[in-house]
Amino acid sequence: MSQAKPFECRWGILATGWIATVFSKDLVLDPTTRGVTDVVHTIAAAASSNSVSRARTFLSDVGAAGATAYGSYAELVADGNVDVIYVATPHSHHFEHCLLALQAGKNVVCEKPFTVNAAQLKILVQMAREKKVFMMEAVWTRFFPISVEVRRLINSGEIGEVRRVTAEMNQAQDPDVKYKDGMHRMVNPDLAGGTLLDLGIYSLTWVYQCLYHTLSASEKASSAPSVIGTISRFELTGVDAENVVVSTFPKSIGIATSSIRIATDPDDSGRPAIRISGTKGEIQVAHPAYRPEKLTIIKLGGGVEEKAFPIPAGHGMFWEADGAARALRDGKLECETMPLDESILIMEAMDKVRYDNGFLYPKAIEKTDH
Ligand SMILES: NC(=O)c1ccc[n+]([C@@H]2O[C@H](COP(=O)([O-])OP(=O)(O)OC[C@H]3O[C@@H](n4cnc5c(N)ncnc54)[C@H](OP(=O)(O)O)[C@@H]3O)[C@@H](O)[C@H]2O)c1
Repeated sequence: MSQAKPFECRWGILATGWIATVFSKDLVLDPTTRGVTDVVHTIAAAASSNSVSRARTFLSDVGAAGATAYGSYAELVADGNVDVIYVATPHSHHFEHCLLALQAGKNVVCEKPFTVNAAQLKILVQMAREKKVFMMEAVWTRFFPISVEVRRLINSGEIGEVRRVTAEMNQAQDPDVKYKDGMHRMVNPDLAGGTLLDLGIYSLTWVYQCLYHTLSASEKASSAPSVIGTISRFELTGVDAENVVVSTFPKSIGIATSSIRIATDPDDSGRPAIRISGTKGEIQVAHPAYRPEKLTIIKLGGGVEEKAFPIPAGHGMFWEADGAARALRDGKLECETMPLDESILIMEAMDKVRYDNGFLYPKAIEKTDH
């Protein structure tokens, strides 16, 4: 019997920077190298904000030289051969560029964090729903087999009732040296820099995928967390360098931290970044929170099991692409692994911590007019 042809997902890459390159190189890998036979990806086109030659060089670098190169994002979103736009500009510009794609009636996968604030995201979600197009935040970690396994372990009661998750996403980046001119998007307020939006999203992802995503629909309806948090600043530009976010759910507490000054795993020995604590034991997930490959289950009273989840050839961004492609194939408007309402909830948590601590970005990028 002949096998059904895989669904082909045709991507338009909006921006030509670092993560656009990594994602696109993953897209062009043969999916069978990760055991996937039901979807395939092609890069139909890519656009640079202002240089068609940069788009052309980008396409050739990522192994898609035959795709169409554009020197503006407006041309890309108008391309009828593109099924879905992958937005990979700095977060300060996600709102504007997602809007551009949605207004053109395109499906959208947008890099993390979705927007600068929840008000912007709600506008995008409303527009996507009105236009009946698919939209998803590209939180790649959620699609890793290790994340799927952790959620399964929690749901199966392996460690009893989960009462607390602590999740760290710390990197000793030496920002005073590395970012001493204050221009890099990591610390530049004009590009929505700061640790919370850039790295905190990963520790929050672990808290929310363990403590919220695993709940039933009816539990979710009554489980919006209360959130408090604190930050310390990167003095040069005023964005946050460290933060702690505490999310209190009806039956559990999540503590998410991130920093660009200190390390979660100082000697690179695979120390735990995430501890999921239940009444019958604990699951530890090894650093880094954004791209973990190992977990350990420790049972109350004894019993330790380690499980490895090595990432096959590539960076690991292909799993989120596969998730988006399957949702598109099935005519869905969002992906159940990263639902839009959950993106909003996490964005609201980040807003709460920023606003409580007087950490606002310039008006031009917190804006919601469109
Ligand atoms: N999922 C992950 O693991 C991961 C990792 C890193 C970053 N990210 C996210 O991806 C996004 C981009 O990060 P990146 O590291 O790829 O940044 P980057 O290397 O600086 O690339 C950003 C690209 O956006 C385009 N762009 C458009 N307007 C811009 C502006 N005003 N300033 C700067 N660039 C502008 C530029 O390409 P053209 O002008 O040629 O279009 C630029 O190359 C961020 O939101 C970040 O949080 C995700």
